[in-house]
Amino acid sequence: MKKVEAIIRPETLPGVRQALEQVGVTGLTIVQVLGHGAQKGVTQQWKGNTYSVDLLPKVELKTVIPDEKLEAVLKAIEQSAKTGAVGDGKVFISSVEEVLRVRTGERGAAAV
Ligand SMILES: Nc1ncnc2c1ncn2[C@@H]1O[C@H](COP(=O)(O)OP(=O)(O)OP(=O)(O)O)[C@@H](O)[C@H]1O
Ligand SMILES: [Mg+2]
Repeated sequence: MKKVEAIIRPETLPGVRQALEQVGVTGLTIVQVLGHGAQKGVTQQWKGNTYSVDLLPKVELKTVIPDEKLEAVLKAIEQSAKTGAVGDGKVFISSVEEVLRVRTGERGAAAV
């Protein structure tokens, strides 16, 4: 199994959720986060002064999926989260050793 952690623009979340549903993702977790990438946030002008906003609001979407769904999930995220401007986000992928579905006691990919 793989854990996919996608840090995306909050406004893309509805489209990303729809795209993930279409490729069969059943469970996910959403966290509202603050972060920065290479640009270290942005600077904004207001009434002649420059302010630096060094952390921007993002959404972190986490889903654990069977290995064979990984490429379809990454494609779905890329297509639905991309605007082409800096700050579109980043996706981290890692391996998950085990899953337990509490209600049924199922383990592994059957439990995701
Ligand atoms: N190396 C990283 N580790 C952890 N979180 C990161 C990392 N890079 C980016 N993030 C998170 O992803 C969010 C979006 O990053 P962002 O898309 O700006 O990345 P970037 O590398 O600057 O790419 P771009 O040049 O397209 O903006 C950040 O606000 C931060 O929350
Ligand atoms: Mg950036």
